[in-house]
Amino acid sequence: MGPGNELADERSAISVRAMIPSDVTSLLSILQESPEASLWTESGILEFAALGMALVAEQNGAVAGFLIGRAAADEFEILNMAVARAWRRRGIAGLLVTEALRRARTSGARRAHLEVRASNRAAIGLYERHGFAPSGRRGEYYQHPPEDALLFTVELRSAQD
Ligand SMILES: CC(C)(COP(=O)(O)OP(=O)(O)OC[C@H]1O[C@@H](n2cnc3c(N)ncnc32)[C@H](O)[C@@H]1OP(=O)(O)O)[C@@H](O)C(=O)NCCC(=O)NCCS
Repeated sequence: MGPGNELADERSAISVRAMIPSDVTSLLSILQESPEASLWTESGILEFAALGMALVAEQNGAVAGFLIGRAAADEFEILNMAVARAWRRRGIAGLLVTEALRRARTSGARRAHLEVRASNRAAIGLYERHGFAPSGRRGEYYQHPPEDALLFTVELRSAQD
């Protein structure tokens, strides 16, 4: 087996599913090692998840990453996302974004958007790879440390377009 096959095998063991309340502990530990993400509490996670779309990526039965978003009218917003440090650069966030956008499009969203810290190169690279383009900037939007937010948007095309 060559190196390419090993990667394919590893990725095939990753699955994306809807979050369930017992995943919260895993999400909290992923957030602890992800200062670039929004540091939500347990009740915050459950509240946002109940209001919107909450997905987790599982690697051999363990939660390796999550994405939480919400739809309003025909827009979908990615609110928070992180992947466990040990599992980064294996395509897990890419799978989560792809599945979130697929579900959003199926439920009628025409556009997806998000805000990201201007210095977050990893997330910006990920979003650009998934078709998001810069659409604005909010000065000193974040605190601890203060930083501008970059806005990114992607148009979602339905099968009829
Ligand atoms: C951003 C984050 C979610 C990416 O997760 P991931 O599973 O490692 O991402 P993927 O493996 O799917 O990466 C897909 C692409 O994104 C880009 N990317 C991801 N991490 C990157 C990094 N550290 N530097 C540069 N580009 C990066 C690359 O284009 C990458 O493709 P490649 O590996 O083929 O080069 C992860 O780094 C993370 O949890 N960071 C902390 C929390 C955070 O920033 N959340 C987003 C808040 S808006």
